[in-house]
Amino acid sequence: MRDTEVLGTGVLDTEALPSFEARYTIPAVETIHDSPDEIRKKQQRVRELCAKHNAILLAHHYQRPEVQEVADAVADSLKLSQAAAKTNADVIVFCGVHFMAETAAILCPEKTVLLPDLRAGCSLAASITVEELRIWKAKLPDAVVVAYINTSAAVKAESDYCCTSANAAKVVRAIPADRPVLFLPDKFLAYVVARQTQRSNIIAYPGYCHVHKTIRPEHVVEILKEHPDAELLLHPECGCVSSCMAKAADGTLPQERTFFLSTGGMLRHISDSPASEFAVGTELGILHQLKKSFPEKKFYPVNPDAVCAFMKTITLDRVLRSLETMSPRVTVPEEIARKARRAIDRMLELA
Ligand code: 13P
Ligand code: SF4
Repeated sequence: MRDTEVLGTGVLDTEALPSFEARYTIPAVETIHDSPDEIRKKQQRVRELCAKHNAILLAHHYQRPEVQEVADAVADSLKLSQAAAKTNADVIVFCGVHFMAETAAILCPEKTVLLPDLRAGCSLAASITVEELRIWKAKLPDAVVVAYINTSAAVKAESDYCCTSANAAKVVRAIPADRPVLFLPDKFLAYVVARQTQRSNIIAYPGYCHVHKTIRPEHVVEILKEHPDAELLLHPECGCVSSCMAKAADGTLPQERTFFLSTGGMLRHISDSPASEFAVGTELGILHQLKKSFPEKKFYPVNPDAVCAFMKTITLDRVLRSLETMSPRVTVPEEIARKARRAIDRMLELA
């Protein structure tokens, strides 16, 4: 099997799908020239405004370091939605991307959810529309629909379960073995889940993240040639997962040193691992938390160009402006939120 050729899509006519790349605009990544003193002052002002508005600042692992440093919590998609669900704050400043802010708005309809830059989209979430999902579902009416959290609220509302990369296999295992599963939108994660659950009835939508897709088998070969003792940690959205799973199974890659993990799973794994070197296959923002949490260990990016420009639109200046103006605000229409909440709650009950 080629690394890009994963599970079948059932009756979905993939040729008829409009190109994924045409569905989003990748913003330019700005270089910030603030001095350490300016950063400190801006962070202090952010904290003052958070206190004034009873706001909590949630940041994903791919955020800029200075944004991660000022946050109340830095985590993966699962932990961030759990943090949103249980906060007593009146305002959630989401330093992440739009689907994450939408998930918070669905879970906390009474709170103000701010996304400091509305350009913070996600190529993976953009790869499936609710209309496409409805067509797919109509062709496979017996299937259970599992939507990755990287989807719009409207797609979640048409789904039975939500999942993140931290719990996708657990969610799929909760579905009776004889029911086909429509897994969307990430074909690479679908492949990992099919292998982990040993199910042959997972039907995958052919979407992908434009950043993780570029983490290729040849990068893995190269980095392990340079650092042969490193453990290999790969996010399941990576374009190399099917090839690496096959190689780990046939012994070409050391199975006991190859792991498929969410960003939060990587941090937990490293804390339990006796290894001192890690080849890390995901977006580069995670390196900030890894180096901070484990200063004695060494980390090597599998692809040093894997940068999510959507995540980097969130700067300290935009966080400040957002707190000063209480905008841009992310809301979800009540009818969509009510249906999407079912799928998210089912996941949170299992998580
Ligand atoms: P995690 O849930 O593993 O943090 O991943 C979110 C994401 O967008 C990966 O590209
Ligand atoms: Fe979306 Fe990929 Fe960015 Fe994650 S890294 S937010 S999946 S575009």
